[in-house]
Amino acid sequence: MTPARRRPLVAGNWKMHTTPQSGVELARAIVRAGPPDGVDLVLCPPAIAVTDVARAVVGTTVRVGAQNMHWLDAGAFTGEISASMLAGVAEVVIVGHSERRGDFGETDEMVNRKLRAALAAGLTPIVCVGETESVRDAGGARALITAQVQAALEGVDSEAAGPLVMAYEPVWAIGTGRTASPEQAAEAIGWAREALGHALDAAAAERTRVLYGGSVSPANARELLAQDGVDGALVGGASLKADDFIAIARSAVP
Ligand code: 13P
Repeated sequence: MTPARRRPLVAGNWKMHTTPQSGVELARAIVRAGPPDGVDLVLCPPAIAVTDVARAVVGTTVRVGAQNMHWLDAGAFTGEISASMLAGVAEVVIVGHSERRGDFGETDEMVNRKLRAALAAGLTPIVCVGETESVRDAGGARALITAQVQAALEGVDSEAAGPLVMAYEPVWAIGTGRTASPEQAAEAIGWAREALGHALDAAAAERTRVLYGGSVSPANARELLAQDGVDGALVGGASLKADDFIAIARSAVP
């Protein structure tokens, strides 16, 4: 269970789905489906839809985030967007998703630069960590998660890290329908929180929300979110259906 002092957060990572128009329709359907009180709800559409989706949820409790950003403010970086471009439009940004690390070669150092740029721009970063199946099978999950958390937070102090959110997303559970068991999720989130304590301090470890992501669905959300230390969910596929996403959010109500 999430302690009362950590408010649950459920974020939808729409990945490369939706146009600006269909994204607005999805956001409106989510608002109509009734975001529950007591849970922070965040929608992360593709970059091209962020502005329209943000406009569509003005006046509601729903917040909007991006899925990625560059660490520099401006420059000759074709195809990239910066934290300062996002800052007027979105409040949140996902950093270091395993699809960015695996498919686009994002290193721990890039994740660290992005995290620092996001915090400096006043955005709430959701920093993703998590092991592949082969790393887990070899017994290396704890060491990898610890190293990823430490590297992401290099040079960041507890105060600067204020709004930081982390997400534990085991790569083998993403888009596979194979969810981590509630015990596996809670254990790994415990490792991530311990690493947060070492990289920052005990207060930061205590206040930072750590989400679980990987094949979260209305069917498994309640059990996952009932675990100690699991402060919410980062949802992929099921976030593209308004009713499923809201059902997951309801499971997070304390
Ligand atoms: P799925 O929920 O589709 O497994 O995706 C999880 C994820 O990668 C969220 O960032």
